[in-house]
Amino acid sequence: MLDKLKELEDEAKQNIEAVKDLDELKEARVRFLGKKGELTKLLRSLGSAPPEDRPVIGKKANALREELERAIELKEQSLRDARKGEQWENERIDVTLPGSPATVGQKHPLTLVQEEIKEIFVGLGFQLAYGPEIESDYYNFEALNIPADHPARDMQDSYYITDQFLLRTHTSPVQIRAMEKRAPKLPVRVICLGKVYRRDDDATHSSMFHQCEGLAVDSDITFADLKGTLHLFAREMFGPGQKVRFRPSFFPFTEPSAEVDISCIMCGGSGCRVCSNSGWLEILGAGMVHPRVLEVSGYDPRKSTGFAFGMGIERIAMLKYGIGDLRLFFSNDLRFLKQFN
Ligand code: PHE
Repeated sequence: MLDKLKELEDEAKQNIEAVKDLDELKEARVRFLGKKGELTKLLRSLGSAPPEDRPVIGKKANALREELERAIELKEQSLRDARKGEQWENERIDVTLPGSPATVGQKHPLTLVQEEIKEIFVGLGFQLAYGPEIESDYYNFEALNIPADHPARDMQDSYYITDQFLLRTHTSPVQIRAMEKRAPKLPVRVICLGKVYRRDDDATHSSMFHQCEGLAVDSDITFADLKGTLHLFAREMFGPGQKVRFRPSFFPFTEPSAEVDISCIMCGGSGCRVCSNSGWLEILGAGMVHPRVLEVSGYDPRKSTGFAFGMGIERIAMLKYGIGDLRLFFSNDLRFLKQFN
């Protein structure tokens, strides 16, 4: 029986060594170590061996089982390694293939217009100013000469958070904040671009939109400075031939106040659908800072004057790019957004 065991050992080792793939290895395991395998069979017939030989044979048989198990394990590992190596071999990288393109985003049309506006005014010596979007009643209305019972509050349908706080309805509160910060030093020259909120929603109004506020206060600012500044802005923004027109208007925080039009950029002023045949397009509100506003912000209205203006950035972008519906700015449609490079 010891001879038989030796024979089995040689055969099994040769067999495992010669195996070429994982399937064959599985077969070999069944053949030698399986429940009906040859080693198992041999152990079953242990009873027919002389009793004094049995412990030796049993011990050797168990040692052989362990040895074969280890051999099979090692073989399996080397077969797997070889297969991986083959895969890598076949998977050479073809550096001449075109790569998959990375999609690079681009700036939103409103960002482009805001950057252009900033560049124009910073070039004129204005500094950037900021204020909170959740604003107090005081800055949004009261300090701008719009008391609680004033009908001018109806011009700006508002979202209140509490009685005293609301989403700012315009960027004009930043006028007050900028002056308070700098008072009593002159000059003050700031622009503020940012989001504002009103209870409005249709093709030309959205409940959130953007404004650009401008403010200049100094010892000798006149209406001529306001006109000159806005003329220059219109020509830089829309082209050298632009005409600008001031119409009398009313805002509680400016006196006198004006609404400002540019000549229609679609028809050049001869009249078309976009300008309702008037030849003009309204782009902003403006005026000379009201003495009361200067006063509450820390400036002496006898020693300082100023102008202020506020424009809707969506409106500027719509005119500049010929966009018919304001909602396109906020609907995240890539077919729309991809057109602005
Ligand atoms: N804040 C005004 C509005 O939103 C615009 C404006 C700003 C008018 C500054 C005059 C001066 O309608």
